[in-house]
Amino acid sequence: MDLGQMRRGVDMGPSVIRYAGVVERLENLGHEVEDRGDIQIGRPSKYDIKNEENLKDLDVVVNANEMLADEVIDVISEGSFPLILGGDHSIALGSLAGVAKDKENLGVIWYDAHGDLNTGETSPSGNIHGMPLSASMGIGHEALKNIGGYSPKVKPENVVIIGARSLDEGERKLIKEKGIRVYTMHEVDRLGMSRVMEEAVEHVSNGTDGVHLSLDLDALDPNDAPGVGTPVMGGPSYRETHLAMEILAESNIITSAEFVEVNPILDNKNQTAEAAVALIGSLFGEKLL
Ligand code: ARG
Ligand code: MN
Ligand code: MN
Ligand code: MN
Repeated sequence: MDLGQMRRGVDMGPSVIRYAGVVERLENLGHEVEDRGDIQIGRPSKYDIKNEENLKDLDVVVNANEMLADEVIDVISEGSFPLILGGDHSIALGSLAGVAKDKENLGVIWYDAHGDLNTGETSPSGNIHGMPLSASMGIGHEALKNIGGYSPKVKPENVVIIGARSLDEGERKLIKEKGIRVYTMHEVDRLGMSRVMEEAVEHVSNGTDGVHLSLDLDALDPNDAPGVGTPVMGGPSYRETHLAMEILAESNIITSAEFVEVNPILDNKNQTAEAAVALIGSLFGEKLL
């Protein structure tokens, strides 16, 4: 998937994450891995980037996410953990539609430089990768809200955003209106990643029946993860993000995860894909000693 934004190449993310050894990494930790391959989303003959709803390539994005939701439901019904690789962040629509299907109170950790809380009305870009979290909370265009045939997938009180440092005006408004828990980089700097993660774990595990981790690689400082389409200076380091994953592994609350926005065209020798794989290792229990 690369149609949720305008920089081509992020559709190769899953491929380079495989090259960076994600399957082997998980197998070495003792996990049994089934790589289900890529979901073929199709390519529009003409990009639909100027429509009156300010939702670029809406139809293909919706269709692809319906397919992803089905696949995720399938994985869960087999008793397996869905680990979803992107692709731009619009795929969170399908991930959450699948994951939340039989859950009343799904917790979500959104580790991202951005809030991804826009709608067609508030978005400065019309890029759907900036809208999946609001749509999953039941805010925005009908077609985006209703992926998987139901809405909402998550309640604002079960969401925590970590690492934010680029929020649009409409997003700030929504955060305040809905009382969404956000640890911007200000709080990360002030409290430290360790305390932020402890509080976040507490917040999303309180009364929830599962927790989804949605990790956008652009959350990391661009020095450590340059291969992303919308980099923002001043993010958590590679090591701070590892600590976050290690704390999540210890907490044992994560029931599904996605790693998104790796764009090899913009990367430096697959550094960002390698970071993703290392972080996945930590999330799945890899220890330093
Ligand atoms: N807030 C900006 C927008 O809505 C950037 C979104 C970036 N999202 C992402 N998943 N990288 O266009
Ligand atoms: Mn199937
Ligand atoms: Mn982002
Ligand atoms: Mn994002």
